[in-house]
Parts: sequence; structure tokens; C-alpha cells
Amino acid sequence: MQKIIIAIDGYSSTGKSTVAKRLAKALGYIYVDTGAMYRAVTYHALKNGFIGTDSGKLRDLIEDLPKIELKFMPNNETGQSDMYLNGENVEKAIRTLGVSKYVSKVATVDAVRRKLVDMQKKMGSEKGIVMDGRDIGTVVFPKAEFKIFMTASPEKRAQRRYKELLDRGEQVTFEEVLKNVRERDHIDSTREISPLQKAEDAIVFDNSDMGLQEQFERIHDFALRVIGKQQNKKDAK
Ligand code: DC
Repeated sequence: MQKIIIAIDGYSSTGKSTVAKRLAKALGYIYVDTGAMYRAVTYHALKNGFIGTDSGKLRDLIEDLPKIELKFMPNNETGQSDMYLNGENVEKAIRTLGVSKYVSKVATVDAVRRKLVDMQKKMGSEKGIVMDGRDIGTVVFPKAEFKIFMTASPEKRAQRRYKELLDRGEQVTFEEVLKNVRERDHIDSTREISPLQKAEDAIVFDNSDMGLQEQFERIHDFALRVIGKQQNKKDAK
């Protein structure tokens, strides 16, 4: 069957990764969580004191970029991929509210974006990939065959995120999480380089009032139709 690229963009905590993971599994595709890559760079920056009020610190991060090695490796227990930073499994460490607070800022740095976008393009060179993020359909794969733009109300998204953090044992308040969701929306969609934007040919998917199963089924059906069309095109050549 013809393989395609599926780009899933949207606001934070819209459940992009949950749907993307299931979709990739159902299609036998590779799943790439690009947010994890920006989070890993942010974790590295925090650990090394590259985040501060003066811009000199960011320059230090940029200088350090060639030394940052990122890799996704399978986790046999969870059946999913974990993020590794210079050989260290940082899957848990990158999901804290501490990292969430700074990641949007780090994601505005041009040199960081260039490095990560370059890696992402290489990962999709063979197609058969589901990638989620903020600029996948606009910048990383503008020619992706299937693009989705996920959205939901800030309150619904904060509720989901709040529950996730509590389940992981983090001490946070709902107000703190809602504030972070709103702040990230603002920074992600107003930044100069590759702001979060719906690609012209993306399908908008508002899942404020939709359960996981329904979301998955709708998106999966759609993906199968797109794959079928691509296969027909190929056969007709
Ligand atoms: O998907 P996430 O919430 O884990 O992403 C974390 C941050 O990374 C998000 O606030 C914006 C940034 N990001 C980005 O700028 N471009 C991407 N392709 C993915 C994430």
C-alpha cells in the first residue's frame, strides 16, 4: 500500500499525541512527537543554566546545540518510544510543568528550530510517518498528504493536562495549569518563526466534546481514504 505522511498540528494538550500514537499503530507507521524534541532541548538548557533573563544565556544554548544528541528509542515495557538526550532517558523529566514553563520560549529560538526541523525532515524521508507538533503541516512537511489541525477550548485542555500531572504525582493547581496553557497558546501562535498556524489544506478537528474512540475512528477513516486515493493515483500512472 502507498505510504503517506500524516501531519498533526494544534494547540497544546489537545490530545494530538494520543490520537497520533494510535493512528500510527493502526497503520503500521512510525510516530514522532516533535514536542518531545523541543522539551528535551529545554531540559538540557535548564540543567545547564542556559535559561535566564539575559540573552547571553540563550547564546550559550545556541553554542551548545551541536553537542545535543536526541534519539527516540523503543521502551519494551510501554511499547512506545522514549526520548533520549545524550544517552539519558529523559522521557519523564521532559513532561514536568517546570519544562512546560520554558519550552515555548526555547521553541522561539531560530537555531533550535532549524536543528530540529532538519532532523524531522530526515525522519520522514521514507514516508509512513505520523508526526505531531505545531509546524508540521506548514514547515516540516508542507506537502504532507494528510494534515489535521486539532483544537479544543483552553479550559478543556487545562483539565486534561491537570489530571495527567496529578496522576504523575506533581503538585499543581488547576489555575496554574490553565495559565500555562494560555501562555503557551499565546507564545506558540505569535512567535516570529514558524508560528502555530493552520495549514491552508489542513482539516480542523475540534475535540472539546469528543471522546478518544470517536476521534480515533474519524481520523483513521479519513486517513484510510487518503491512502486509498494516493494508491489509486499511483496505480493510474
Ligand atoms: O506538544 P508539546 O506540548 O509537548 O510541545 C511543547 C512545546 O514545544 C510547545 O509549547 C511548542 C513547542 N513546539 C514547537 O514549537 N514546534 C513543534 N513542532 C512542536 C512543539
